[in-house]
Amino acid sequence: MKIRKAQEKDIPQLLSLLTEIARYHYERRPDVFLGSGIKYTAELLKEMIVSADSPIFVAVNEKDEVLGYAMVQIKIRTDHPVLAPYRILYLDDLCVDEKARKLGIGSQLMAFLKTFAVSERCSRIELNVWEFPDSALHFYEENGFQTQRRELEFWL
Ligand SMILES: CC(C)(COP(=O)(O)OP(=O)(O)OC[C@H]1O[C@@H](n2cnc3c(N)ncnc32)[C@H](O)[C@@H]1OP(=O)(O)O)[C@@H](O)C(=O)NCCC(=O)NCCS
Repeated sequence: MKIRKAQEKDIPQLLSLLTEIARYHYERRPDVFLGSGIKYTAELLKEMIVSADSPIFVAVNEKDEVLGYAMVQIKIRTDHPVLAPYRILYLDDLCVDEKARKLGIGSQLMAFLKTFAVSERCSRIELNVWEFPDSALHFYEENGFQTQRRELEFWL
């Protein structure tokens, strides 16, 4: 397994994993997520692949097939009336193919992102995660993440 920047040839596999993720969220929160559609189109993925600020990294096997991906954004805040300036790495999306889970690939992607974030002079990595019973929260905690804040809801 190795981790590299995504290339155009990876787009079909990225779209397939994005579809998997969209279904995963829809099955758990159909009130929030639409059953149709995915987060990024092929066109948007093409742009992200060449972008310096929102790169996509993929974990690939020996046949160079995508086993998982991490989509990140470098976020910079300089001028806010209340919030301190920051430069962070935002983990926008992470997925490992269902058939390749629990083999350490997600953790290896995370270790890669930590090194990348340091090399980009980011002070921390941020992300948000749903509170599903089988959510990735435990995975993130295993990888050293702590809860920063909570988003609450009251059902009517
Ligand atoms: C979350 C995800 C990326 C983890 O990838 P992975 O390659 O399976 O993770 P690893 O094999 O490196 O697992 C590391 C640890 O996290 C645990 N873990 C992984 N996924 C978990 C999950 N969904 N629930 C609970 N624990 C999980 C593993 O058991 C392991 O713990 P252990 O060392 O104590 O056994 C993968 O399960 C996935 O793609 N899930 C669906 C998409 C998703 O939820 N993405 C995150 C959106 S916020």
